[in-house]
Amino acid sequence: MAGRGGAFALVALCVLELALLHGAGAAAGERLVPAMFVFGDSTVDVGNNNQLPGCKPECRADYPQYGVDHPSHAPTGRFSNGYNLADQIAKLLGFNESPPAFLSFPAGGIIPRMKDGINFASGGSGLQNQTGDHCGGVYSMADQLEEFKLVVMMLGNGSYDLISRSLFFISVGSNDLFEYADAKNPPPNRDDAAFLKCLDDSYRTYLQELYALGARKFSIVSPSLVGCCPSQRAAALQHDNDLDELHCFRPANNLSKRLYTLLASTLQDLGGDLDGMHYSLCDSAGMAEGVFTPGGAKGMSATPFRHAVTCRDIYFRPFGLGLCNTTATLCPNRTDFVFWDSFHPTEYASGLAASALFADSGNFVRPINVGQLAAL
Ligand SMILES: *[C@@H]1O[C@H](CO)[C@@H](O)[C@H](O)[C@H]1NC(C)=O
Ligand SMILES: *[C@@H]1O[C@H](CO)[C@@H](O)[C@H](O)[C@H]1NC(C)=O
Ligand SMILES: *[C@@H]1O[C@H](CO)[C@@H](O)[C@H](O)[C@H]1NC(C)=O
Ligand SMILES: *[C@@H]1O[C@H](CO)[C@@H](O)[C@H](O)[C@H]1NC(C)=O
Ligand SMILES: *[C@@H]1O[C@H](CO)[C@@H](O)[C@H](O)[C@H]1NC(C)=O
Repeated sequence: MAGRGGAFALVALCVLELALLHGAGAAAGERLVPAMFVFGDSTVDVGNNNQLPGCKPECRADYPQYGVDHPSHAPTGRFSNGYNLADQIAKLLGFNESPPAFLSFPAGGIIPRMKDGINFASGGSGLQNQTGDHCGGVYSMADQLEEFKLVVMMLGNGSYDLISRSLFFISVGSNDLFEYADAKNPPPNRDDAAFLKCLDDSYRTYLQELYALGARKFSIVSPSLVGCCPSQRAAALQHDNDLDELHCFRPANNLSKRLYTLLASTLQDLGGDLDGMHYSLCDSAGMAEGVFTPGGAKGMSATPFRHAVTCRDIYFRPFGLGLCNTTATLCPNRTDFVFWDSFHPTEYASGLAASALFADSGNFVRPINVGQLAAL
């Protein structure tokens, strides 16, 4: 299943003084960092999967109604009705949108575009190489880093200054959790601690590799409460699985929370060990908990689990799994919804999450926010 590419939202309405955020971000014409390099899954893919020949339809976002609220009103490869989290952060940093998908560059086109950044993210992928295998061919984190390394080698020494001042934006891990937790058929008696340690170790290795290539400024988005995304709730309800106090699939949410704790500690270590490394870590699980607690998501639908394609809470034939249903009913006002499809946030929700990443003062984004990170 899945365009699964991952976590949906981490909306932070409940914790944000939205008024304070008005006017936050770069002034017109100003860029807070020279370039942005994006890695991860469908939360931040801007079209790489469209270019991957083996990638199955259920792991692409190249059909209606995706993109309906994008300026082009057409599918762009983003798993969203419009812009995704990478775009929204890019906008706050003074770009028009995310840097382009790596695979969208024509041969020989990489070097001249490198100065703005590149997006390597691939929907369905994860920290582990095998995550997303069901998609038939996505770029794992290891693949994404491999491509980045080739680009850096092509550029040679001239790239160091650019890379060290640029933002490295990473949103990955949800698909590893989805595949492991499996709300349809949770296998018994597994060693969750060993699994989570393996994910955390992979993350550490990727960050060290990026650091070795010159990266210094990292914005890391931990996986959200994956047990609360509509697909997982539907599957858990259908199979009579364990639900938590948020009415979400408990084992999956448990993994999200624990992975955040491990990542926080790993980043603290790395920040101490690696000279000049700076990071901003978003506790997406903590943020999501606020949103999904009844009354938590002020200003949005009182039933935050509904998604904007069906206007329904639990939908057992979810939109966005390769079901190219051009007649699916769209809710007229997508800004009322956290979820766009069975896995992914609406453009509006990812915009709120980006505002939190950029300006939150230590509630869920630590030790500094992306605005502060960019300014270093
Ligand atoms: C993951 O894939 C990369 C190549 O993309 C390879 O170098 C690495 O050894 C693989 N890791 C594991 C644990 O298999
Ligand atoms: C890159 O820079 C380092 C140190 O400044 C230098 O030793 C090395 O020869 C340079 N490599 C190339 C390919 O220019
Ligand atoms: C996760 O589940 C384990 C085992 O049931 C439990 O001991 C732990 O407290 C849970 N952790 C969180 C963060 O929910
Ligand atoms: C497509 O959407 C329409 C309208 O919502 C619905 O009646 C129909 O069953 C859907 N088709 C599939 C294959 O899901
Ligand atoms: C959609 O909802 C938002 C937020 O609730 C509201 O500000 C906006 O006016 C609504 N738009 C329409 C067309 O109803």
